[in-house]
Amino acid sequence: MTDKTAQDHVLIFDTTLRDGEQSPGATMSHDEKLEIAGLLDEMGVDIIEAGFPIASEGDFAAVSEIARNSRNSVICGLARANFADIDRCWEAVKHAAKPRIHTFIGTSPLHRDITALDQEGMIEKIAATVAHARNLCDNVQWSPMDATRTEHDYLCRVVETAIKNGATTINIPDTVGYTAPRESADLIRMLLERVPGADEIVFATHCHNDLGMATANSLAAVEAGARQIECTINGLGERAGNTALEEVVMAMRVRNDIMPYRTGIDTTKIMHLSRRVSQVSGFAVQYNKAVVGKNAFLHESGIHQDGVLKNVQTFEIMRPEDIGLTAKNIAMGKHSGRAALRAKMAELGYDLGDNQLKDVFVRFKALADRKKEVYDDDLVALMADASASGDEHLQVKKLRVVCGTEGPQEAELTMSVGGEEKFVDASGDGPVDACFNAVKMLYPHNAKLDLYQVSAVTEGTDAQATVSVRISRDGTVYTGQSADTDTVVASVKAYVNALNRMHAGQGRANNSALQTSAAG
Ligand code: KIV
Ligand code: ZN
Repeated sequence: MTDKTAQDHVLIFDTTLRDGEQSPGATMSHDEKLEIAGLLDEMGVDIIEAGFPIASEGDFAAVSEIARNSRNSVICGLARANFADIDRCWEAVKHAAKPRIHTFIGTSPLHRDITALDQEGMIEKIAATVAHARNLCDNVQWSPMDATRTEHDYLCRVVETAIKNGATTINIPDTVGYTAPRESADLIRMLLERVPGADEIVFATHCHNDLGMATANSLAAVEAGARQIECTINGLGERAGNTALEEVVMAMRVRNDIMPYRTGIDTTKIMHLSRRVSQVSGFAVQYNKAVVGKNAFLHESGIHQDGVLKNVQTFEIMRPEDIGLTAKNIAMGKHSGRAALRAKMAELGYDLGDNQLKDVFVRFKALADRKKEVYDDDLVALMADASASGDEHLQVKKLRVVCGTEGPQEAELTMSVGGEEKFVDASGDGPVDACFNAVKMLYPHNAKLDLYQVSAVTEGTDAQATVSVRISRDGTVYTGQSADTDTVVASVKAYVNALNRMHAGQGRANNSALQTSAAG
């Protein structure tokens, strides 16, 4: 054990905005990225990986602004092992009070083949690029991508080279989710024992979840001496995702007896971040997801319900309020006023400005007229399209749908297109298809519908539906969300929302060659 590993503090490095945002189809707008970064900072995340500055102008702008706005967190950007990437990264993160450059290269035989570098050539490249980064920034993280499939002797050599040239954090990625807990721990232990200078730096663990072992592998690495966990909210990330922040943090808290580590995370912010990341990324959280899934605190079987009523600890190992789930779920009725709504939203983690409150209040009243009980989850769903400002290019004005056992189903749609109201009558194979056809007739476009997903917010036949839509055109992806007690209305609004983003050029490159070839 070294000085650093003897400490019980584990740094939380959140990469929702970089590795998470890389998930195919995840698109966050510039403003949404800024909002998520602000929430992560407030939650106590030690390091925020804000993006990959050279990947696009959009990424560069987001990382720069997140750096400027940062308060407590270190702001980190990703860069491949070349000077241009590193310089661009520095240009973006240098605005932060605490900047970090994270540079990496694939070190396993498979990756060495791709880069056409032999072992010695790669060592030279690592030395030069890490030294270059360190000349720009005092805080440099280096990662041997695919570390868990890199020969141990060679891994020791590359890590030693990075440390000698100025790396202050060494991250050990399990890029393809290949390792298992014991091996993950052994690898960190081996590096701590064999690499000269290992006691001078912090070891980080970065695990992907391809075999469902990311959280276990990260915690095993910590037990062996790693003191930084890289993770994302909801485990968002490519393929099966990354280690989930909420899982590692709550595991260390609930099982502090066997994992005696602490983090600076305010766990009561977890639920709000989970909901916001799900909304802005368009990735729903599975119902049985650990910690933040809808069912995580629900008890269905009689035996469980009986036990929980007598003593909640019989079937609950953490309290809902520890992750920011409010105890009272029946929220508001149609007589509730603006002040009550503002207070309730604040309890749910939303700090609404006056204009936003005005907009949400109008939609809350409309919902309360249609729905007997407005639950917390309904209010959260209302926020899904709270960004609608009223000056969008496309606005749904009126919709009537005819559906039933005999088709074709029909939709009569009035929509404002660039300020001009237009009407159309369209048919289709089902009501949603008829509506989407109507939208396309009023706003002809060549985007492809990649995803259409509906989920119920609460129980009951008057439950709101949240709909996520993802479309793409010329390699750029646009998403839209909406919620309504009428599933068809929510569908059309989500579709129109995505089209508005396309119209405004607020998309994200799909499978950008840079990102997929460069980082896992
Ligand atoms: O999974 C991975 O290897 C990565 C690196 C860029 C750290 O995300
Ligand atoms: Zn990764």
